[in-house]
Amino acid sequence: MGESVNLFEITNLYKCYNNKAKPRVYAVYNTNLTIKKGEILGLVGESGCGKSTLGKMLLKLEQPSRGRIIFNQQDITDYSFNQMRKIRNSMQMIFQGSANAFNPYFTVEQIISEPLNNYSQESTEKKREKIIAMLEKVGLDQTYLTRYGHEMSGGQRQRVGIARALILNPEFVVCDEAVSSIDYAMKNQILTLLTDLKQQFALTYLFISHDIAAVNKICDRVVVMYLGNIVEIISNINGDVQHPYTKALLAATLIPDPQKREKKMVLYKDEEELKIPERGCVFQNRCLYTQEVCKAEQPSLVPKTGEHYIACHFYYNH
Ligand SMILES: Nc1ncnc2c1ncn2[C@@H]1O[C@H](COP(=O)(O)OP(=O)(O)OP(=O)(O)O)[C@@H](O)[C@H]1O
Ligand SMILES: [Mg+2]
Repeated sequence: MGESVNLFEITNLYKCYNNKAKPRVYAVYNTNLTIKKGEILGLVGESGCGKSTLGKMLLKLEQPSRGRIIFNQQDITDYSFNQMRKIRNSMQMIFQGSANAFNPYFTVEQIISEPLNNYSQESTEKKREKIIAMLEKVGLDQTYLTRYGHEMSGGQRQRVGIARALILNPEFVVCDEAVSSIDYAMKNQILTLLTDLKQQFALTYLFISHDIAAVNKICDRVVVMYLGNIVEIISNINGDVQHPYTKALLAATLIPDPQKREKKMVLYKDEEELKIPERGCVFQNRCLYTQEVCKAEQPSLVPKTGEHYIACHFYYNH
């Protein structure tokens, strides 16, 4: 393998939302992360742990409260909307039901040409050619051009969503729950499609998902987040996970009934647990192994072996 190049370098990134009703909540807390060109980086963690917020900050759809975001060696942290315009077409997002969010009165052609209209002055014929070529790449033929959202299945709509995201030749795509609420067989097809497209278009993905099996299937590395903090980074989420939180998350996910599993993904007992402790480890209130040191000092994210990072004072004991 050649030397890997970083597409993103994120340092000490924070996002704090100022909620009037609640105390200040850090959705993302002191996050350091690199995303390598060409990789599929998984991002998992319970509902509300900050996954979408992190994804949106990378695309500058949310402004970080602190920290830096370097994209292709450019510091984009303080880029204005206009400065972002030049690179915004190289970053896209596919989200859960993104296809459902399309204007119901738009045809597939209108849906996919929308981003093109914002960025290019090409003729309608030229755009249509591009759209047909892209539809074919996502496994749909040109008869779909005139269809409306309600005339398609969930899987077909998601393919349209992917075509729309890729029509401007992005370099980086955030897939935020992109395969959630799609049935199992269709999910596997979409995952295969995403991996094929990644190869063809030399893409890099941040793949946010509750679905550990999907993450395991396509991701090169997986980041595990808990209350805005990265607690573990690992190549194989079903492999040698060490952090007590990752273990708990996997245990909750292994419940066979999907209905119960979804519910289990939210394990918080009360508001108190949603707050990041003022000192020490972020997971101290729920961890089975908490010691004095865990309450006093926040463990840093340290490499165990090559690609495996853990933020736990006692990882080797569990
Ligand atoms: N616009 C906002 N204003 C205020 N608080 C917000 C906003 N967006 C997110 N939050 C809060 O920030 C935290 C992280 O939210 P985020 O949506 O990033 O979580 P998530 O991991 O993507 O969750 P899910 O798995 O449910 O999509 C949550 O506590 C959420 O309530
Ligand atoms: Mg989210």
